[in-house]
Amino acid sequence: MDANEPEVAAPPHVPGPFRVDILTLFPEMCEGTLGHSILGRAQRAGLVEVGLHNIRAHGIGRHRVVDDTPYGGGSGMVMRVDVVEAAIAAVRRPDSLVLLMAPAGERFSQSIAVRLAAHRHLVLVCGHYEGVDGRVAAHLVDGCMSIGDYVLTGGELAALVITDAVARLVPGVLGNAHSLDEESFTRPRLEAPVYTRPQRWREHEVPEVLRGGNHAQIAKWREQASLELTRALRPDLLDAPPAPPSVDNMRQMP
Ligand code: ADE
Repeated sequence: MDANEPEVAAPPHVPGPFRVDILTLFPEMCEGTLGHSILGRAQRAGLVEVGLHNIRAHGIGRHRVVDDTPYGGGSGMVMRVDVVEAAIAAVRRPDSLVLLMAPAGERFSQSIAVRLAAHRHLVLVCGHYEGVDGRVAAHLVDGCMSIGDYVLTGGELAALVITDAVARLVPGVLGNAHSLDEESFTRPRLEAPVYTRPQRWREHEVPEVLRGGNHAQIAKWREQASLELTRALRPDLLDAPPAPPSVDNMRQMP
């Protein structure tokens, strides 16, 4: 540097956009969903990046084979660990959190979404067919995630659910950041019902307090309605919330 050049302070560290890379055998399953509404807008605004990658690009040989029969017998085909390894290696960064979508994984929740949103880069690996070689969960990923106690035909829908729930927490993605504080499960409570016109529909009126313009009374009404709804529909949420899960806890499968 020229000694006469004025010293310029280093710019503050601006982390890049939040990025999710989804590894799948069926990228077309994800394409439509990601381009629309809030997620589509967030991508166009450069706040969120989503990459879709076909695991088959890392398949073996001319036929791009991605699976094989299970050792020990059994039905169906199993996705190969070496193929999944190559697919992960192609997108992994030093700051990546790599998660396998699997019904045996840690149950995804709003509190996990909040934790995942603190990462800059998620890699979501979608299994398909009868399963994924057990060494993927044990040695290749940072954890396994399930979106519920049911078995899907593959991890794609789970990856989309997680991408949506996490991306909307990225600062700037929701126009009104306030709604993040108000909403269900963050506190954790169910949200009070909301209403718009018409004021009277059939015999049902919008509660009077919401029409009065007294913000303190409205806040009190919403608090009370939220509590009553939670007590009626999800009393389990009113118990002390469990400690936030750590990423280490997500390693569920052997
Ligand atoms: N793959 C199949 N079922 C799943 C589930 N419930 N959650 C995440 N990934 C899955």
